[in-house]
Amino acid sequence: MDNRPIGIYDSGIGGLTGLKALRKLLPDEDYVFFGDSGRMPYGPRPIDELRRIAAQDMDFLAKFDVKAILAACGTISSAARPVLAEYPVPAFGVVDPALDAMAAVPGDKPLCVIATAASIHSGEFTDALAKRCGYSREIIGVPCPEFAPMIEAGHIRRSDPVVMDAVQRALAPIRGRDFGALLLGCTHYGIIEDAIRDYLGADVPLLSASECAATALRDYLVQHDLTGGENGGARFFVSGDLRQFDAFAEPYLERGPVHAEQAPIMEL
Ligand code: DGL
Repeated sequence: MDNRPIGIYDSGIGGLTGLKALRKLLPDEDYVFFGDSGRMPYGPRPIDELRRIAAQDMDFLAKFDVKAILAACGTISSAARPVLAEYPVPAFGVVDPALDAMAAVPGDKPLCVIATAASIHSGEFTDALAKRCGYSREIIGVPCPEFAPMIEAGHIRRSDPVVMDAVQRALAPIRGRDFGALLLGCTHYGIIEDAIRDYLGADVPLLSASECAATALRDYLVQHDLTGGENGGARFFVSGDLRQFDAFAEPYLERGPVHAEQAPIMEL
């Protein structure tokens, strides 16, 4: 048993899809969430910057004596794998649990990953998945560079023309394709899941990297006897606009008031 909090971070509100999934599985745990919206988007950044950001974000959370850290960010998870692996606090990303789930999808239909440009171009999702499938399945990666900044700016409704247009621009090349599964490889994308379904079809088999990672972290904590918690609470730190964050997080998380605290914009 370990009552210390769990740390979670992302470039912004995308990480809340990971927090929400974790809280469903581990409601009694305490959480410290860091949304680095003052430096978002992470998606277009080069790998060396993303690695420095990963270390800085984890150092920020480590000050709260967290027992484990979830990088609830596909971009960090794919770019900064060695930084996470070597970090003194157990640190986990969203890539490996998602690949486990994707590789286990039965049949031989193609598998699709949609994520930020950095994540798709790193090959950490697509090449790794092709390898896991023994190169026997078609793997398609689709970068959606507009999605995360658009979601962070508050365009999240399925009826919002900005959302509908962006979804169409990014996903037109795969509309009508029959996939074994389509992975939401950027944690922001779960927030517009309904718009993605509206465009691709209600029965497209979606998998969420956030949900896969939450399950894997729960399993790790249970296996290592590290579950616990003081009062099932959460502290939120945001390096960008607090009011914008609270206005989204409170109704989204459905767990009472959210009053984020200001975090600094860390210099690279
Ligand atoms: N939520 C992020 C991810 O999962 C980062 C998006 C961004 O900042 O570009 O990739």
